[in-house]
Parts: sequence; C-alpha cells; structure tokens
Amino acid sequence: MSDSLTASKSPASSSGSAASNPVPTIRLESVHKTYDLGEIQVHALRGVSLSIFAGEFVAVMGASGSGKSTLMNILGCLDKPTRGQYFLDGRDVSGLTKTELAKLRSHKIGFVFQQFNLLSRTSALENVELPTIYAGIPIAERERRAEQALERVGLADRAGHFPSQLSGGQQQRVAIARALVNNPSLLLADEPTGNLDSRTSIEIMDILQNLNSEHGLTVIIVTHEPDIAQYAKRALEFRDGKMKKDVLIQRRLIASEILPTLPSIEDEDDLDAIADRAAPSGS
Ligand SMILES: Nc1ncnc2c1ncn2[C@@H]1O[C@H](COP(=O)(O)OP(=O)(O)OP(=O)(O)O)[C@@H](O)[C@H]1O
Ligand SMILES: [Mg+2]
Repeated sequence: MSDSLTASKSPASSSGSAASNPVPTIRLESVHKTYDLGEIQVHALRGVSLSIFAGEFVAVMGASGSGKSTLMNILGCLDKPTRGQYFLDGRDVSGLTKTELAKLRSHKIGFVFQQFNLLSRTSALENVELPTIYAGIPIAERERRAEQALERVGLADRAGHFPSQLSGGQQQRVAIARALVNNPSLLLADEPTGNLDSRTSIEIMDILQNLNSEHGLTVIIVTHEPDIAQYAKRALEFRDGKMKKDVLIQRRLIASEILPTLPSIEDEDDLDAIADRAAPSGS
C-alpha cells in the first residue's frame, strides 16, 4: 500500500461499530474463487476471510488482477464463491440459487461501476427507475422513488436528460441514484472514480461520504488511487487473490472540506485560458 495512505495496523473489525452491532453486514470465511477455463484454472481469490460491519466505509486496493472485482462480484451476489462461505447480514448466501441471489441483491445491495453503465436512449429518471421494476415496486411509486434518488445526488434538475447530455460526473451520479433507488443497506462501487478527473472524483466521494455518514449506508469501493482511498475509513489491500493488509485510515479526508479549497470549474477555465495565452504558439 502506498506510503501516502497513512493508517494504523489494527484491523477495523476491532472498532466500536463491532461492539454496537455484533452481526457483521458481511462475513467471508475462507472464500476461494477459481475460474475454470478448461485447460487452465485461474485462482482469483485464495482464501479470503473478512468482516465488515454496518456503517463502515471500506476502500479495496491492489494491483490489476489481484481479485478486487472478483471480490466485489461475490459481495454483490453477482457471483458465488467456489469454496468457503459468505454471510450477508448473518445469513449464509453461498448456497442460494441465482434467482434467490438476484432477489436479495435487488433489495439489499446497490452497485456502481467505473463505466456508469447507463442505458443511452433512456432519460436519467428512467435509468434510475429501472431497478424498481425488477424489485416489483408499484408503478405509482416508481417515479417518486427515482425522483427522490436523483435529489439525493443533487441531480433533480437533470431528470429528463439523456446520458449523452450529462457530464461524466453527472452520469456517475445518475448511476449512484440508480444504485440507491431500492434503499439498499450496502453500496458497492468498483472504481467509481476511475473515469473521472480529480475534482469530479472528490465530488463523487463527497456523495458517498454523505450517504455513509448521514444515511448510515455501508460503502465499499475499489480504487487504484491512494488519494481516493484516503476518503474511506478502512483500507484493504489485495495481492494475488489474498488480503494482505487491513488498516484503519488515520487521517481521513473529508470531501466537503476539500472541495471549497479546489479551484472551481470557472477558475479552471480561466487558468486554461491563461495557460493557452502563456504557451508559445504551435506547442
Ligand atoms: N470471468 C472470468 N473468467 C476467467 N478469469 C477471470 C474472470 N474474471 C476475472 N478473471 C481473472 O481473475 C483474476 C482476478 O481478476 P479481477 O477482475 O478480480 O482483478 P482486479 O483486481 O479487479 O483487476 P483490475 O484492477 O484490472 O480491475 C485475474 O487473473 C483475471 O484474469
Ligand atoms: Mg477490477
């Protein structure tokens, strides 16, 4: 883990949240995941044991191919361990069928991806509404829920826009609203800032921190960027399918404190203009 990620050595599972709520939201016991490609087998996870409690904010780090997305897919009930057990809110979900997992997922878990994954010919509001259809929410309530979710990410005024009419950061906010629309208790985000510039990334972290602190949502993100991990409360590092580090973030960054210190978009435009004027022609 990078030096810039200042952290203590004690695992977060010994923190206060564990004492007040003895049943972890997530408990993995010796989870293995092997992808069977016929000739070869890929051991993506090799015996991961882990507890995460309600209200935690965890960053998952590690090199490409270390098993981060495989872990997230299992946590999100999109995939199942090959071996080992996964307890979600105390219930062993390792043996559930695909249909049972899908039902569980639609009520408990919101998922956000690096590529936003919005439907392009569908408005922001309709994109956000989609999971309510799968969850069997009555028609009359779907739109109201979607509007509320868009409000929570500060995009109420963009409900009718199509993804192509939104900035990258706004598209990711729509994706977060979509993940929130069924009121999950767990939000999983696989590199949510991977396609965004640094200011927009911090705006997304601001939304996630707010959902975590104000609404008690348990948040788990994958990130390659140590600066972004610094906004979490706890960081895990994976290497070759194993969890190598589990630390509490000591000097946690608070996005709402950082954002006012950054140049605004208009200032950045001004700076670009100054830079353009200053640059020798032809460069
Ligand atoms: N569906 C799959 N079939 C076969 N192998 C896979 C599959 N998904 C992942 N793998 C392999 O499992 C290992 C872990 O992959 P994973 O996607 O979890 O890594 P990651 O840490 O998310 O990497 P990145 O940072 O590049 O996203 C890799 O060796 C990868 O090639
Ligand atoms: Mg990945």
